[in-house]
Amino acid sequence: SAHGVVVVGSMTADVTAVSKKLPRSGETVLGTGFTLVSGGKGSNQAVMASNMGVQTWMVGCVGDDPFQHVILDSLRVHGVDTTFVDCLSGESTGVAHIRVDESGNNDIVIVPMANNRTNAEQVDAFFAHNPKANILLLQLEVPAATALYAAKKAKALGIIVIFDPAPAIPFLDEMYRYVDIVTPNETEATALTGIEVTDLQSAEAAAHVLQEKGVQTVIITMADKGIFVLEGQKPRHFPTYSVPAVDTTAAGDAFTGTLGACLATGTSLEQALQYAMAAGALTVTKLGAQSSLPTKEAVEQLIHGGKQ
Ligand code: RIB
Ligand code: NA
Repeated sequence: SAHGVVVVGSMTADVTAVSKKLPRSGETVLGTGFTLVSGGKGSNQAVMASNMGVQTWMVGCVGDDPFQHVILDSLRVHGVDTTFVDCLSGESTGVAHIRVDESGNNDIVIVPMANNRTNAEQVDAFFAHNPKANILLLQLEVPAATALYAAKKAKALGIIVIFDPAPAIPFLDEMYRYVDIVTPNETEATALTGIEVTDLQSAEAAAHVLQEKGVQTVIITMADKGIFVLEGQKPRHFPTYSVPAVDTTAAGDAFTGTLGACLATGTSLEQALQYAMAAGALTVTKLGAQSSLPTKEAVEQLIHGGKQ
């Protein structure tokens, strides 16, 4: 049967500097490492879905500068279909300026550039040509109006919509009506519900608020505290794998991309979540965005090697 993952989302060149401590405002510190790799929540999720062995399409925009190649090369090397990626002339490719400290903590300035021009016509063009995708992955690094349009269209076609409301920027509540699964982290869940999410109890309260807005399944990712899931009336907590943290960048994307890939092939939610948590954990152990996304073999090895 037809299955595949389509991502309507962002692509950025991630410019990352590593230092012992992050500089305070006005301070200069010496760095210990640097990478320029393909990133952006959309393309990270697409690469991860493809790594899991599921046919994956990317829909979005890059500019006509040298950074476009960083992104397109990575998508293609990882087997993502780029037919519906537009290279806009006279536009710059999106950039994420990232700083990482020795504990793996980061801060990020995203400059969307071409991503801001991701549009409904591109969504239409994809769905006119590709009837095979059964999962749509959305995030908020492209215009929220485009994400809403894509969600509506997918829902009308019976496609499962997974929405990662990241970064925590505003969007219309109407969005929830077209979303099957929402995957905020603690910060995003707090911003979306006004409930300070810090533990399982507050996560459950926030998840109920999100369900009332119209989404069936809420998954709140809580870093080393694992994930809280409210599927219908059923609340569950899954502990995660404990791993040495090098750089958390793209861990959330590894989680969501894996979740989408597993659900595309009919894996149960419970098993998909185990895979997704393993992928997220492995991503934390390596520097960079797409450069840190694991293979399917590595994910399976972590799962079968046992949880800590
Ligand atoms: O989710 C991680 C991504 O967010 C990075 O790749 C960076 O591009 C930022 O946008
Ligand atoms: Na990483």
